[in-house]
Amino acid sequence: MAEADRERWDRRHAEADVPSASGGWLEALGDELPQAGRALDVASGRGGLSLWLAQRGLAVSALDVSPVALERLRQAAKALGVAVDARQLDLERDALPDGAFDFIACWHYRQAGLHAALCERLAPGGLLALEQHTVDNLQRHARPGRDYLAERGELARFALDGAPVPLQLCYYREGWLGDRAVARVLARRLDARA
Ligand SMILES: C[S@@+](CC[C@H](N)C(=O)[O-])C[C@H]1O[C@@H](n2cnc3c(N)ncnc32)[C@H](O)[C@@H]1O
Repeated sequence: MAEADRERWDRRHAEADVPSASGGWLEALGDELPQAGRALDVASGRGGLSLWLAQRGLAVSALDVSPVALERLRQAAKALGVAVDARQLDLERDALPDGAFDFIACWHYRQAGLHAALCERLAPGGLLALEQHTVDNLQRHARPGRDYLAERGELARFALDGAPVPLQLCYYREGWLGDRAVARVLARRLDARA
């Protein structure tokens, strides 16, 4: 990522609210989600989801290109008394952390081939949680721009037929959720190889 782009993210994260623990739509799924094991929050931002996963008992690594976001996440984790491994990493350039993960989330970040790469890092039985605005969102909002939006049905098609490992679709919702056109997928890796 270009330095100027990272600085833009830093400014946005510096101006935003203090992060609070939030699992968003995952909170309603309760028992389907692990309460132990390794979790990866990809393009975590200030890490509200990371904090929530850590509170559930998972060992969380949060990845983001913005050192400002990660520092704010570290401070929030300290205030809440949970541990989050917040790592600066450029997903366009750097390798993902080693090992297999029991839970991987990638919310509101789009990069060609990334979802497939994340599947390869799922442990057997591990869960992949995706959330992205869809193209329909442009009907009401200019941002995120077209390059950052999923096609209609794209996330579900990926989970059902497009992933490099067999996945079971556990949860799918797409459409106008509040004032935003969003797609949400939770899928489980089925094969034994990781
Ligand atoms: C729209 S925010 C989403 C944050 C969080 N996942 C959420 O849903 O609230 C996108 C995040 O991606 C990060 N980001 C952008 N480009 C990146 C890159 N090349 N590598 C790692 N993180 C990146 C930004 O710093 C920002 O925190």
